[in-house]
Amino acid sequence: MSLDNIEALLKPINGFLKCETPLEWISEAKKSCKLPVLLRDHLVCELKAAQSAMFLIRRYAVDADSAKALLEWLKPYEDFTYRHIGDWRDLEKLKLNKSMIVKSGGRYEQELVDKMVMLIREELHHFYQVLEVMNEYGIEYENINSSRYAKGLLKHVKTHEPDALIDKLICGAYIEARSCERFAKIAPHLDKRLGDFYISLLRSEARHYQDYLELAENIAGKDISERIAFFGEVEADLIVSPDNDFKFHSGLPVLKVLG
Ligand SMILES: [Fe+2]
Ligand SMILES: [Fe+2]
Repeated sequence: MSLDNIEALLKPINGFLKCETPLEWISEAKKSCKLPVLLRDHLVCELKAAQSAMFLIRRYAVDADSAKALLEWLKPYEDFTYRHIGDWRDLEKLKLNKSMIVKSGGRYEQELVDKMVMLIREELHHFYQVLEVMNEYGIEYENINSSRYAKGLLKHVKTHEPDALIDKLICGAYIEARSCERFAKIAPHLDKRLGDFYISLLRSEARHYQDYLELAENIAGKDISERIAFFGEVEADLIVSPDNDFKFHSGLPVLKVLG
């Protein structure tokens, strides 16, 4: 991807996010000792992105048989990640073998299903690509606790519908946009293999953020700019406030003072 293309992809993302990644985070992320945690966390983030998209269509849009087929598609990835079952190389062959049947009635289900199934396919492919990179760099997969980031956003999701769905979609948009921004920020500081890999992810994550935002706007059918601005502030606070648990989406690193 040329520099101009990257700039064009990032422009709306940087306009959407309320702050840039702090330089202190980049300084930590480029240290070679941080690569294992970065890749392990990135791997789990890709699975979580697939899981949350799947949750949305299971909960809001498809019939029971389709929901079952979705869970079966994801199970080998979850078995590998949470239970260390299976060979990661086999994951590349897995496909969703059933067409999705939408629940009757609603006006937005088909759009939600179409966008989310494509997004899940891409996230699972990214998951596999991260495992390829880890394999090349001799980094074993180990369980990892999740950062405060997604929880910190999702705790503000309303409890009644349709606001809860709209809030979850807005959170999805922020998570995707921040991932995209961070890929672009660290890519120049990594070796060529890793830098190229992160740049290759920019295009799909940029579209994912737009998909989430469009879905939120279409489903709401009214102006949601205040709600978007609210989550924008929450998100920016998670990025700039001190955080001693370095991860892909962590906040301002707290440097340990010796002595
Ligand atoms: Fe992804
Ligand atoms: Fe994504």
